[in-house]
Amino acid sequence: MIFGRKTRDTQRTAFPKATSQQDPPKDTTAATSKTTDKSKPLSSKGASDAYKKAVEESYTTGLRDVRTTTLFRVTNFELFVKPNVIVMGLERKLHVGTKLGAMGEHITLNTGAKMPLIGLGTFQTKGEDIVHKTIESILKNGYRSIDTAGGYKNEADIGNSLKELLPKYDLTRKDLFITSKLPPKDQGYDNCRTSCMTSLENLQMEYLDLYLIHWPGTQKMKHDDVRNVQNRKESWMQMETLLKEGKLKSIGVSNYTLNHMEELLSFCTIKPAVLQIEHHPHLVQKELVEFCRDNDIHFQAYSSLGTMMEDNKLLNDPLVVEIANCYTKTPAQILLKWAVQQHIGVIPKSTNPVHIAANIDIFDFELSSLDLQRLTELDKQHHYCWNPITIV
Ligand SMILES: NC(=O)c1ccc[n+]([C@@H]2O[C@H](COP(=O)([O-])OP(=O)(O)OC[C@H]3O[C@@H](n4cnc5c(N)ncnc54)[C@H](OP(=O)(O)O)[C@@H]3O)[C@@H](O)[C@H]2O)c1
Repeated sequence: MIFGRKTRDTQRTAFPKATSQQDPPKDTTAATSKTTDKSKPLSSKGASDAYKKAVEESYTTGLRDVRTTTLFRVTNFELFVKPNVIVMGLERKLHVGTKLGAMGEHITLNTGAKMPLIGLGTFQTKGEDIVHKTIESILKNGYRSIDTAGGYKNEADIGNSLKELLPKYDLTRKDLFITSKLPPKDQGYDNCRTSCMTSLENLQMEYLDLYLIHWPGTQKMKHDDVRNVQNRKESWMQMETLLKEGKLKSIGVSNYTLNHMEELLSFCTIKPAVLQIEHHPHLVQKELVEFCRDNDIHFQAYSSLGTMMEDNKLLNDPLVVEIANCYTKTPAQILLKWAVQQHIGVIPKSTNPVHIAANIDIFDFELSSLDLQRLTELDKQHHYCWNPITIV
């Protein structure tokens, strides 16, 4: 790691305002089958042996969290064989049906990099003290992935906190998965490089695990201005170069619609590894999820909890509350599980230690296919964040 210090400031208003529209496609069959169909309960004896082997493996691989968390709280031998499920950074044919704990599950990106399915969102997490406490809390709770952006103006505080906290928790840079994003004001070939280097400097890192184009448009440019197309293309080409130089391990995009994705795939020489976009039961991105699956691009959801609204319509949705009561979980845990169970990554934002602990503690239960589907059927194509549909 390189260490230094910088600070800046920004607001969500730098982006277009959220809009809403109605268009309800509803089909969860494909999404839910992946988890349930491939799961095969083991016999009690098989489960017992598998559990012992998993614990032994964990102890011998240097995965320090294993012993300090209730990783394998096997109460009833609910072990399932799930081919290619990745647990604690190891590719094992095991999924412990009770509490996975700490780092939870990973997915493997098309670059080969392993990315935790749960990361910390940091939009509007600002100020040295708050950032430091939040980072300490996530590390304690086993998060290893942090989502930030040049536009969030917290990269320097995150970098400083990590510099101090990683040794304290016996961790190194390699244990983390850090995502940052190219601000819309910095679109274009040269600007993209400068902006990425600034993020690296602020974070005091030599590489980013993932770098995303934050928004398909360029700040201060009209949505129908065709220069948006050229600018984001140039940004992408620069990101490919930065990846080849090793400064970025994986590259991707955020807030890209189907049109933007198709355009990107038509010219890129390195495919995006990730699409990050708003996705939750009130805004189900069915087409984009399928597009990503078909093209080996990881789909990552943001605003899974309905953003920082005062009167949170998603967390308070009566069905979400009903299902939460049914599983003795919180509405937030149900919303996160709904995505993660479908292999969709989530990056819940929180500065509250109780929420931080709860948001990663979602591996000791499975939603039934019916409940997954009922949640998906809440879709009303409502954006709580911004809607990129008007960007040419
Ligand atoms: N690419 C993009 O354009 C884009 C856009 C938006 C967001 N994002 C990323 O996605 C992250 C998450 O999205 P978001 O910031 O819109 O918000 P969110 O994660 O949907 O919701 C955050 C809100 O939920 C509360 N919360 C968190 N855990 C909770 C729990 N267990 N129970 C009850 N309330 C809980 C938080 O309050 P407390 O802090 O008090 O817990 C906060 O008010 C962002 O921080 C950012 O990293 C990216």
